[in-house]
Amino acid sequence: MTPDARELVKSARRVAVLTGAGISAESGVPTFRGAGGLWRTFRAEDLATPQAFQRDPKLVWEWYDWRRQWLLTVEPNAGHRALVELEDRLGDGFVLITQNVDGLHDRAGSHRVLKLHGDIWEVRCIECGRRGRDERAPLPDVPPRCECGGLLRPGVVWFGEALPEGVFERAMEQALNCDLLLVIGTSAQVYPAAGLVPLALRHGADVIEVNLEETPQSSHVTLSLRGKAGEILPGILR
Ligand code: OAD
Repeated sequence: MTPDARELVKSARRVAVLTGAGISAESGVPTFRGAGGLWRTFRAEDLATPQAFQRDPKLVWEWYDWRRQWLLTVEPNAGHRALVELEDRLGDGFVLITQNVDGLHDRAGSHRVLKLHGDIWEVRCIECGRRGRDERAPLPDVPPRCECGGLLRPGVVWFGEALPEGVFERAMEQALNCDLLLVIGTSAQVYPAAGLVPLALRHGADVIEVNLEETPQSSHVTLSLRGKAGEILPGILR
């Protein structure tokens, strides 16, 4: 394993981590882009936009219900677990910023988590605004309804929507103040999340990228490591 990466991790007091779908790939969760990616089979605009939900809430919910059922069959992997160990060591010097909605970081035991794109296990009423958690999969009724009779929607961020209030501001603050940003398993193409990488670099942080493939950020970061998160992270974080 690259000794430089270990050294950078060891000497950092404040570490921020940005994760994407790639960290859950080894658990058996499909990514969005690339080989086997969800957007190869499905059209994002048919399923992950407010317009799609307005047009056909049942279809959109069927897709989320299918993903939720899939998630019940998988487990966090060595990559998720290595981040829990790093958090245990750094305490408040650690923050995990994730684009994932799958809940696997929570299940692994991460606590300081900022969820940029929401959480697939949360629901929100489009009429009365009530929020809640529903971990049943399959859902008994699709689309599910609120007690008020209104339609419930998944508590996730769709294309064209704003991120949950205050969450991105907190993520930016962490990117501005960290010594080291780890960027793991994200294609770094979806903004504003991807913007955290140049922000951290501009403010003097080192950035280590862990990805199977090259990304638009690879040539700008301090170290770009090619390989599986579940294999690389335990080696550089412990
Ligand atoms: P993507 O599917 O765009 O990218 C996944 C990245 O993980 C790719 O760059 C892969 O090369 C890499 N990868 C795959 N397996 C890996 C492994 N085992 N170890 C390390 N890297 C691996 O997923 P995101 O970047 O998370 O948003 O996508 C960002 C957002 O776009 C998602 O949150 C979602 C999506 O559309 C919404 O739905 C709003």
